[in-house]
Amino acid sequence: MPVVTSIEDLKRMHRARTPKMFYDYAESGSYTEQTFRENTTDFARLKLRQKVAVDMSNRSTASDIAGLPVAMPVALAPVGLTGMQHADGEIHAARAAEKFGVPFCLSTMSICSIEDVAEHTTKPFMFQLYVMKDQDFLAAIIERAKKAGCSALVLTLDLQILGQRHKDLKNGLSAPPKLTLPTLLDLATRWRWGMGMLQTKRRFFGNIVGHAKGVADPSSLMSWTAEQFDEKLDWDKIARIRDLWGGKLILKGVLDPDDARIAADFGADAIIVSNHGGRQLDGALSSIRMLPHIVKAVGDRVEIHMDGGIRSGQDVLKALALGAHSTWIGRAWLHGLGAMGEAGVTRALEIIRKELDISMALCGERNVKDIGPDNVMIPRGFL
Ligand code: FNR
Repeated sequence: MPVVTSIEDLKRMHRARTPKMFYDYAESGSYTEQTFRENTTDFARLKLRQKVAVDMSNRSTASDIAGLPVAMPVALAPVGLTGMQHADGEIHAARAAEKFGVPFCLSTMSICSIEDVAEHTTKPFMFQLYVMKDQDFLAAIIERAKKAGCSALVLTLDLQILGQRHKDLKNGLSAPPKLTLPTLLDLATRWRWGMGMLQTKRRFFGNIVGHAKGVADPSSLMSWTAEQFDEKLDWDKIARIRDLWGGKLILKGVLDPDDARIAADFGADAIIVSNHGGRQLDGALSSIRMLPHIVKAVGDRVEIHMDGGIRSGQDVLKALALGAHSTWIGRAWLHGLGAMGEAGVTRALEIIRKELDISMALCGERNVKDIGPDNVMIPRGFL
């Protein structure tokens, strides 16, 4: 077993163990991947301020997210096709998150269904919804999330139309995958991954297959999904979803201060400053650069979360310093899952918490709630 000390180590293991088609799906952005890259490189531009001769004993990374206590201000972002990175991946990730004490959010486009995850966990998880045109499907899936006891609905607003990722098209990523000779050879050599997939008893894309009209098996899923994303999404529709749901509502994919003002007026419980991990609008600014503008616009009115580019506890600290109440990670936990299943997700969380704890201490902070603008140097031109 190699010594794993960073998210980068998990990423390398993920790459080695998972078929190229699914690894590339995770580790890519839309078009030129500029926004995908800048999500991480912009974190590196921010510098932490070291403090000395400050009492750093009795530290705590504990916080809260949308009213729930958490071990650290980091949640597992919704990720589609997680069960293709590792068999039963959503269940593994949800269990790791609940044991660690951070929220897990299940994607609409997950392999394991809401019911599969509920059956294998003991604490409520969050559910992420894409707004689909089929109103019966929407009402039914919201009911299923309620029945499963989901703690919040995360409504994703930045995917009314799909951003294009070149690698997915070239790899033939579809449901079921297009099986060319190189793909078949690649799948055949990832025997551990393959054994897991053969053993899983799940219905693939269990949130949709067998529940949406005309989607009896995964082969019809991709075309159904592509035409179901609601290009006419507006705030009236979001209000209708809020009424159907009736619980905590988190709006994901807000990247512009004007939209953030509308979301705050709307009364969202929280917003997630996000560009979908650089998978949608290529050419948009990184989430960490947009964060201070949104904090300035609505920081006193709504709980502000952010995601995009977080690969370490130092990154979490920087996001908190720029005003985020909490953060979400996508690829960081996905690399853990692809590398080692539940143990890998746990390892990713442990790595990030330790990095956050040590970096906080060296910045002279004992409590995440005390982290603020004094902890970072912002380079010229960043804002
Ligand atoms: C995502 N993301 C995403 N978001 C969402 O609301 N629903 C989804 O189904 C997915 N699917 C998805 C798949 C994959 C492979 C990735 C990498 C991401 C976006 C995700 O929730 C989050 O916004 C980003 O992953 C954050 O960026 P980092 O942490 O991956 O850099």
